[in-house]
Amino acid sequence: MPAANDPYDPKEVAALAPDALDAAVEAARRAFAGAADLEALAAIRPAHLGDRSPVRLAKREIGALPPQARADAGKRVNVALAALTDVYAERLRTLTRNRDEQVLDAERVDVTLPASRRAPGALHPLTAIQRRMCEIFVAMGYDVAEGPHIETTWFNFDALNTPPDHPSRSLSDTFWIEPPDAGLVLRTETSPVQIRTMLERRPPIYIVCPGTVFRPDELDATHTPVFHQIEGLAVDEGLSMAHLRGTLEHFARELFGADIAIRWRPHNFPFTEPSAEPDLRCFVCHGESVGNPDRPCRTCKSEGWIEWGGSGMVNPRVLRNCGIDPTVYSGFAFGMGIDRSLMFRSGIEDMHDMFEGDVRFSLSLRGEP
Ligand code: DAH
Repeated sequence: MPAANDPYDPKEVAALAPDALDAAVEAARRAFAGAADLEALAAIRPAHLGDRSPVRLAKREIGALPPQARADAGKRVNVALAALTDVYAERLRTLTRNRDEQVLDAERVDVTLPASRRAPGALHPLTAIQRRMCEIFVAMGYDVAEGPHIETTWFNFDALNTPPDHPSRSLSDTFWIEPPDAGLVLRTETSPVQIRTMLERRPPIYIVCPGTVFRPDELDATHTPVFHQIEGLAVDEGLSMAHLRGTLEHFARELFGADIAIRWRPHNFPFTEPSAEPDLRCFVCHGESVGNPDRPCRTCKSEGWIEWGGSGMVNPRVLRNCGIDPTVYSGFAFGMGIDRSLMFRSGIEDMHDMFEGDVRFSLSLRGEP
């Protein structure tokens, strides 16, 4: 570019020559046409329309022309700039339309396709209440343990201090696995998990074990051959019946509400000494059927209370069977029916509902705590 005070030489302002301007417009037209998409177009725009593009640089040269040549040159530059701007705008429109069509095509929704349906299922209420029970104990520092459904008689009976002639071993109380001398049963309770845990860990032990258990009972409103228990075991120094009571009463209040009524009845289990059975106030008659022949209650047989499970202080023999010194450690244990707890909590009067697999049953109890 010549300096402002240089004498005018038309050849030096070649950029303003009509041919040069036409060539610049033509170059831009080809370049814009070659831009395949909006990004490419944006990338080459400065070269043809930016401050340092040939036509704009040429425009700056107008001042260097003698006054009589400026008007013509100015017109040519403006025509060239207008042409460039039009070519650019046209290409921009075309590429924008292409892009929009591609987006519409890519995002097309076929409204005639079948909708993807979410299965209207829910956790089975037994699973849900089992999880809730575990949560209550985990919050107290317990671990959750598991054991197999098929047990040896040693774990299911012997280690739990059940005498060889105890009626619970009979064919009418236990499912035996063929051949009879294999010593295998479908576990009749979750208590064998206590033994498995005590053989694996040293005190202090705080575990709960939810799981399926099996007994040869006919399915009726309150019995089923396959049901569920949650077993608990605590072994530590200085544990007493008071800890057992406090633990189960807290459990009951968390599960059934603060106003749940519990009573304790002495009982007898081979694996605990002393033993006690906690009963819960009948969820159907709330005790009003007691001594009231006009309002008999089938659920509690008009006794006003329903058995919830078994519990007691771990028999020292059981501790010894597992290599734990009963002069140092004591323990409490319990086993509650999960199905029974669900009946209480949700007012279910017939066990069939729990096993028929009707999804409406699960849905009707969805969202219960
Ligand atoms: N295993 C007993 C049953 O199925 C329930 C039970 C009672 C479990 C007392 C225990 C316990 O751990 O200490 O009837």
